[in-house]
Amino acid sequence: MSKQLYDRHRRLRSSTSMRAMVRETKLTTDDLIYPMFIVEGENIKNEVVSMPGVYQVSLDYLTEELNEIVSLGIRSVLLFGIPKEKDELGTQAYCETGIVQEALRKIKKEFPELITVADTCLCEYTSHGHCGIIHEGDVLNDESLELIVQTAVSQAKAGADIIAPSNMMDGFVSAIRRGLDEAGFENIPIMSYAVKYASAFYGPFRDAAGSAPQFGDRKTYQMDPANRLEALREAESDINEGADFLIVKPALSYMDIMREVKDQFNAPVVAYNVSGEYAMVKAAAQNGWIDEKQIVLEKLTSMKRAGADIIITYAAKDVARWLKD
Ligand code: PBG
Repeated sequence: MSKQLYDRHRRLRSSTSMRAMVRETKLTTDDLIYPMFIVEGENIKNEVVSMPGVYQVSLDYLTEELNEIVSLGIRSVLLFGIPKEKDELGTQAYCETGIVQEALRKIKKEFPELITVADTCLCEYTSHGHCGIIHEGDVLNDESLELIVQTAVSQAKAGADIIAPSNMMDGFVSAIRRGLDEAGFENIPIMSYAVKYASAFYGPFRDAAGSAPQFGDRKTYQMDPANRLEALREAESDINEGADFLIVKPALSYMDIMREVKDQFNAPVVAYNVSGEYAMVKAAAQNGWIDEKQIVLEKLTSMKRAGADIIITYAAKDVARWLKD
């Protein structure tokens, strides 16, 4: 009788049913948040060149878009606004009749069940493209917070179900929490872009939102991709300040960080599968070099395995379709 010197792992991979039975991670449409770019104006549906399949849409196209999204079973959208006018202080971000505020009112009226997440930042609304008020070439922290809080409160008033601040000023969660509470919105959660790196993977987004900084970069407020402990400090601050969700962004190059954030904090972790990650897959797929469906499902499943509970992805509509098949 010979003694077996190795384990037979292949026993549990022997058939489709066996593999399904022991599968540890499952991706579902409930996990997805679909980002949308709402542009001021009429009759606009522009495909973003570097993001095939993603459109800037005006309010009059919103109903059609959302009908599709809802019929696919997607439960949540993340809204970005593209205003007609930009200025130094990004006033259209916190204006009652701003484009995101208008979109929120329309969505809550027509699709009350859909969870609306408002991205709370100034960079799409400032003429210089930075996420706050500029003074001597840098972004002022505390002064910018006041405008960020105004933005969050005006989004909540317009019907946002979740506030998602992405500006990376210090103290934004506590400032927004206080602002929301004082305005009577103590039940609106904050989905904080807690861990947001200064990443080149945001390139296509800046085409889509027209939000590229006009000078310099975002390295004095977004994080250095080389840092891990700093991510944990950022997440810890946000939890202490009252964040309800923690976003890790980008996703693919930061799976290690996602896992650590998930292990250390008791909050839902959100992976932001950003524009550059989407664009790379699209470009390769259009060349016939990869199998788009298999690649996208593999990478989103990997994000869940790495600790993500929720995934923000431009591929949400495709994924919802594929998961139905
Ligand atoms: C706004 C914001 C950005 C993204 C989400 N919110 C751009 C940036 O920080 O430059 C990027 C999303 C993406 O690349 O998909 N601050």
